[in-house]
Amino acid sequence: MKATTSILASGIAALLIGTAAPSFAVDADAAQALAKKSNCMKCHSVSAKKEGPSFKETAAKYKGKSDAEQKLVTHLTTNPKIKVDGKEEEHDNLKTKNDADVRNVVQWILSQ
Ligand code: HEC
Repeated sequence: MKATTSILASGIAALLIGTAAPSFAVDADAAQALAKKSNCMKCHSVSAKKEGPSFKETAAKYKGKSDAEQKLVTHLTTNPKIKVDGKEEEHDNLKTKNDADVRNVVQWILSQ
Protein backbone atom coordinates (compact mmCIF):
# COMPACT_ATOMS: atom_id res chain seq x y z
CA MET A 1 0.00 0.00 0.00
CA LYS A 2 2.79 2.38 0.96
CA ALA A 3 4.80 1.51 -2.16
CA THR A 4 1.78 2.13 -4.36
CA THR A 5 1.33 5.56 -2.84
CA SER A 6 4.94 6.56 -3.44
CA ILE A 7 4.88 5.30 -7.04
CA LEU A 8 1.76 7.34 -7.54
CA ALA A 9 3.38 10.38 -5.91
CA SER A 10 6.49 10.19 -8.09
CA GLY A 11 4.27 9.76 -11.13
CA ILE A 12 2.44 12.96 -10.26
CA ALA A 13 5.74 14.76 -9.58
CA ALA A 14 7.08 13.71 -12.99
CA LEU A 15 3.89 14.94 -14.57
CA LEU A 16 4.19 18.31 -12.84
CA ILE A 17 7.84 18.72 -13.83
CA GLY A 18 6.90 17.77 -17.39
CA THR A 19 4.27 20.50 -17.47
CA ALA A 20 6.58 23.14 -16.02
CA ALA A 21 9.39 22.50 -18.54
CA PRO A 22 9.43 24.80 -21.56
CA SER A 23 7.81 23.34 -24.65
CA PHE A 24 10.89 24.45 -26.58
CA ALA A 25 14.10 22.49 -26.00
CA VAL A 26 16.96 24.98 -25.84
CA ASP A 27 20.22 24.03 -27.52
CA ALA A 28 22.58 25.98 -25.26
CA ASP A 29 25.71 25.13 -27.25
CA ALA A 30 24.21 26.38 -30.51
CA ALA A 31 22.88 29.51 -28.77
CA GLN A 32 26.27 30.35 -27.28
CA ALA A 33 28.05 29.70 -30.57
CA LEU A 34 25.70 32.04 -32.44
CA ALA A 35 25.93 34.72 -29.73
CA LYS A 36 29.73 34.53 -29.96
CA LYS A 37 29.72 34.66 -33.74
CA SER A 38 27.40 37.69 -33.60
CA ASN A 39 29.75 39.55 -31.17
CA CYS A 40 27.06 39.69 -28.50
CA MET A 41 29.53 38.71 -25.79
CA LYS A 42 31.52 41.90 -26.46
CA CYS A 43 28.77 43.80 -24.61
CA HIS A 44 26.97 41.05 -22.67
CA SER A 45 27.79 38.22 -20.35
CA VAL A 46 25.52 35.62 -18.80
CA SER A 47 25.95 36.91 -15.26
CA ALA A 48 27.93 40.17 -15.26
CA LYS A 49 26.85 43.60 -16.43
CA LYS A 50 29.03 44.96 -19.25
CA GLU A 51 27.93 47.59 -21.82
CA GLY A 52 24.61 45.80 -21.86
CA PRO A 53 22.62 43.99 -19.15
CA SER A 54 23.63 40.45 -18.20
CA PHE A 55 21.43 37.72 -19.62
CA LYS A 56 20.46 36.76 -16.06
CA GLU A 57 19.19 40.32 -15.57
CA THR A 58 17.22 40.16 -18.83
CA ALA A 59 15.75 36.75 -17.89
CA ALA A 60 14.65 38.22 -14.54
CA LYS A 61 13.17 41.30 -16.22
CA TYR A 62 11.01 39.16 -18.53
CA LYS A 63 10.18 36.39 -16.06
CA GLY A 64 6.50 35.48 -16.31
CA LYS A 65 5.84 37.87 -19.20
CA SER A 66 4.01 36.16 -22.04
CA ASP A 67 5.41 38.53 -24.67
CA ALA A 68 9.05 37.99 -23.60
CA GLU A 69 10.03 35.88 -26.59
CA GLN A 70 8.45 38.22 -29.12
CA LYS A 71 10.04 41.31 -27.49
CA LEU A 72 13.51 39.79 -27.62
CA VAL A 73 13.11 38.40 -31.14
CA THR A 74 12.23 41.95 -32.22
CA HIS A 75 15.17 43.33 -30.25
CA LEU A 76 17.58 40.95 -31.99
CA THR A 77 16.26 41.20 -35.53
CA THR A 78 15.35 44.87 -36.11
CA ASN A 79 18.47 46.84 -35.04
CA PRO A 80 16.62 48.96 -32.43
CA LYS A 81 18.31 52.17 -31.29
CA ILE A 82 20.07 51.86 -27.94
CA LYS A 83 22.42 54.05 -25.91
CA VAL A 84 25.99 52.88 -25.44
CA ASP A 85 28.10 55.23 -23.30
CA GLY A 86 25.48 57.94 -23.82
CA LYS A 87 25.85 57.67 -27.58
CA GLU A 88 22.99 56.41 -29.75
CA GLU A 89 23.81 53.27 -31.69
CA GLU A 90 21.94 50.52 -33.47
CA HIS A 91 21.79 47.32 -31.46
CA ASP A 92 23.36 44.40 -33.34
CA ASN A 93 21.21 41.69 -34.89
CA LEU A 94 22.00 38.02 -34.55
CA LYS A 95 24.01 36.90 -37.55
CA THR A 96 21.45 34.47 -38.93
CA LYS A 97 18.38 34.55 -41.12
CA ASN A 98 16.96 31.45 -39.47
CA ASP A 99 13.99 32.22 -37.22
CA ALA A 100 14.45 29.00 -35.21
CA ASP A 101 18.08 29.96 -34.44
CA VAL A 102 16.97 33.41 -33.24
CA ARG A 103 14.30 31.83 -31.00
CA ASN A 104 16.86 29.37 -29.67
CA VAL A 105 19.14 32.24 -28.55
CA VAL A 106 16.16 34.13 -27.09
CA GLN A 107 15.02 31.07 -25.10
CA TRP A 108 18.58 30.46 -23.96
CA ILE A 109 18.80 34.07 -22.66
CA LEU A 110 15.39 33.74 -20.98
CA SER A 111 16.50 30.49 -19.29
CA GLN A 112 19.48 32.12 -17.52
C1 HEC B 1 27.81 47.54 -28.64
C2 HEC B 1 27.39 46.72 -27.49
C3 HEC B 1 26.33 45.66 -27.69
C4 HEC B 1 26.36 44.56 -28.54
C5 HEC B 1 27.45 44.17 -29.52
C6 HEC B 1 25.16 43.81 -28.27
N1 HEC B 1 24.42 44.41 -27.30
FE1 HEC B 1 22.69 43.73 -26.51
N2 HEC B 1 22.47 45.46 -25.47
C7 HEC B 1 23.43 46.45 -25.37
C8 HEC B 1 22.92 47.54 -24.54
C9 HEC B 1 23.65 48.83 -24.17
C10 HEC B 1 21.62 47.14 -24.14
C11 HEC B 1 20.62 47.90 -23.26
C12 HEC B 1 19.72 48.67 -24.18
C13 HEC B 1 18.64 49.42 -23.48
O1 HEC B 1 18.29 49.09 -22.36
O2 HEC B 1 18.14 50.39 -24.10
C14 HEC B 1 21.39 45.82 -24.73
C15 HEC B 1 20.25 45.07 -24.53
C16 HEC B 1 20.14 43.74 -24.86
C17 HEC B 1 19.09 42.86 -24.39
C18 HEC B 1 17.93 43.23 -23.47
C19 HEC B 1 16.79 43.77 -24.28
C20 HEC B 1 15.59 44.08 -23.42
O3 HEC B 1 14.51 44.24 -24.01
O4 HEC B 1 15.70 44.16 -22.20
C21 HEC B 1 19.36 41.62 -24.90
C22 HEC B 1 18.58 40.35 -24.70
C23 HEC B 1 20.55 41.74 -25.70
N3 HEC B 1 20.99 43.05 -25.67
C24 HEC B 1 21.14 40.70 -26.39
C25 HEC B 1 22.17 40.86 -27.31
C26 HEC B 1 22.59 39.86 -28.26
C27 HEC B 1 22.01 38.45 -28.35
C28 HEC B 1 23.59 40.42 -29.01
C29 HEC B 1 24.29 39.84 -30.20
C30 HEC B 1 23.50 39.79 -31.45
C31 HEC B 1 23.82 41.75 -28.47
N4 HEC B 1 22.94 41.99 -27.47
C32 HEC B 1 24.82 42.62 -28.90
C33 HEC B 1 24.67 46.46 -25.97
C34 HEC B 1 25.10 45.55 -26.92
